[in-house]
Amino acid sequence: MKLNERFIQDLQERADIEQVISSYVTLKRRGKTLVGLCPFHNEKTPSFTVYPDTRSFYCFGCGAGGDVISFVRRIDNLDYIEAVKSVAQIAGMPMPEDGYDDTLSKKRMRLLAANREAARFFNSCLMQEKNRHALEYFLSRGLSMNTIRHFGLGYAPNEWRSLLEHLRSKGFTDEELVLANLARRSDKDGRVSYYDNFRNRVMFPIIDLRGNVIAFGGRVMDDSKPKYINTSDTLVYKKSNGVFALNFAKNANDNKLILVEGYMDVIALHQAGFTNAIACLGTAFTSEQANLLARYAEEILICYDNDEAGKKATEKALGVLGKTGVKLRVVKMDGGKDADEIIRKHGKERFDALLGKAANRTEYRLLEERMKFNLSTDDGKLRFLMAATQILAECGSIECDIYATRLSNELGVNIDSINAQIKSAKAKIRRNEEERRRKEQDAALTRSFEDKNNPERAANLRAARAEETIIASFMRNPDFYKKLKDKLTPEDFVTLFNRRLYECLAQILDSGVDAELSQFAGRFSPEEMDSVTRIYISSNSLSNTIKECEDCISVLKEKSGPKITDASQMSDEEFLKLFRKE
Ligand code: UTP
Ligand code: MN
Repeated sequence: MKLNERFIQDLQERADIEQVISSYVTLKRRGKTLVGLCPFHNEKTPSFTVYPDTRSFYCFGCGAGGDVISFVRRIDNLDYIEAVKSVAQIAGMPMPEDGYDDTLSKKRMRLLAANREAARFFNSCLMQEKNRHALEYFLSRGLSMNTIRHFGLGYAPNEWRSLLEHLRSKGFTDEELVLANLARRSDKDGRVSYYDNFRNRVMFPIIDLRGNVIAFGGRVMDDSKPKYINTSDTLVYKKSNGVFALNFAKNANDNKLILVEGYMDVIALHQAGFTNAIACLGTAFTSEQANLLARYAEEILICYDNDEAGKKATEKALGVLGKTGVKLRVVKMDGGKDADEIIRKHGKERFDALLGKAANRTEYRLLEERMKFNLSTDDGKLRFLMAATQILAECGSIECDIYATRLSNELGVNIDSINAQIKSAKAKIRRNEEERRRKEQDAALTRSFEDKNNPERAANLRAARAEETIIASFMRNPDFYKKLKDKLTPEDFVTLFNRRLYECLAQILDSGVDAELSQFAGRFSPEEMDSVTRIYISSNSLSNTIKECEDCISVLKEKSGPKITDASQMSDEEFLKLFRKE
């Protein structure tokens, strides 16, 4: 069953799209619209646009678009019902009780329940006398009983089916446990059996912002490999979104987050009072994680390990996080290989002092470059200066001035030549930027002909545009539909996608409600909603007159009637009209 449409409409009106999207994307007002960097693709110039008056968004860069529900659905990776629930929660509206199809959402609830029960099981195993060695492992690494309880740490016994049997007794099916990645299925010679995924490992539950146990990390207690096994992607967990301990850190309240590499670093920091420490899980730092962090912090202190891998990860994080506009600092990890070791060896005061000395992004990059060259030689100096001016060219003018002066004094090089070098680096950046923007525009232009949801569009551009003008005008001006609907049937539509959209629109308008994007979201897939939204917002640039619609209807009718294809037989007026439409 479909969700009550009245409810969806009320929800759209109550939920402030600007407010909801702003909590994920930094938006700047531009006239009646807001723009920002698209969270759905990588871009440097904002083409992501929010239209508060029509409660919609659209990205001119990648074509993603929709209403507030499809936004939440996409960014939080939810199904439709879950997204509705989430938006309802933000808007403070209770969900209606009447039925809807929630099989997927029920399945997720089951997985979350299984995870919760598993966390409880692992924790109770950790406390059993026979597993004393596991508890000893944590204690030997300096964790207190309080910390162990706070993080809900646990132990997965050294057996093949202990969790499996426990969860079976609680009513979970083997299939559910495989879906949750708690168990694995083996199929040997046609004999199917199941066994625990985590065995003989100390366990770290990963908890989301709502307090759900969504995944686990399990560590061996010796040097064997693999060191950690983590839950792979499931219906309730996406590694590329995973942030460990954000559930605690989001309450730390000083608008700063400390980003470290591992579970143990986070836990050691929390125990030492740095309750704003988090770790990003998964192998690569993703823009999804960056956007999530940027929602909870104004400043992020990067404390990656003091080794080559840590340096690489720092560069990567600086790049990805830099796009969110959040303030960044890099902490030089001195006195140990990672945060956990520094605290254990030198205490929290030492770590606090390191935080105090954290370098901003420019300082960090300059330092990194400096270490690569031998500054006592002219050649080393010169090559360092080339790299340094490159870095400064990316900074604002005040920052640039400060560091250029510093470099000039330290290296004994004339400030004018440094500035000249920066100027030429800036010009090069600008050229690249223009080149990139041109490419983005070209891509957008190509998209204005092609539409993945409407494969017939490019070959029938004139008709397709007429169809879209009609649809967009009717969406925005329901009275046009009433006046013109008898002059037009779905069969007049040349492209099938637009025909289907028109049929749906007609149904909605005939039932006497307004054609809001939300009305379509239940009948078109999220991908298809991109095209629906593109058409919907195109009415912003239409004249929105009956005459315009009538002209478009004639274009569609003319397809079935006699057609002048030879431009030489057209009057100037006809020719120009064609040209304008195309
Ligand atoms: P590290 O190897 O630096 O481990 O990996 P660590 O966190 O310092 O662990 P300890 O101190 O030896 O106990 C950093 C993070 O990378 C992930 C884990 O999230 C880990 O905390 N990782 C590492 C894995 O997922 N799998 C691995 O095999 C290794
Ligand atoms: Mn470590």
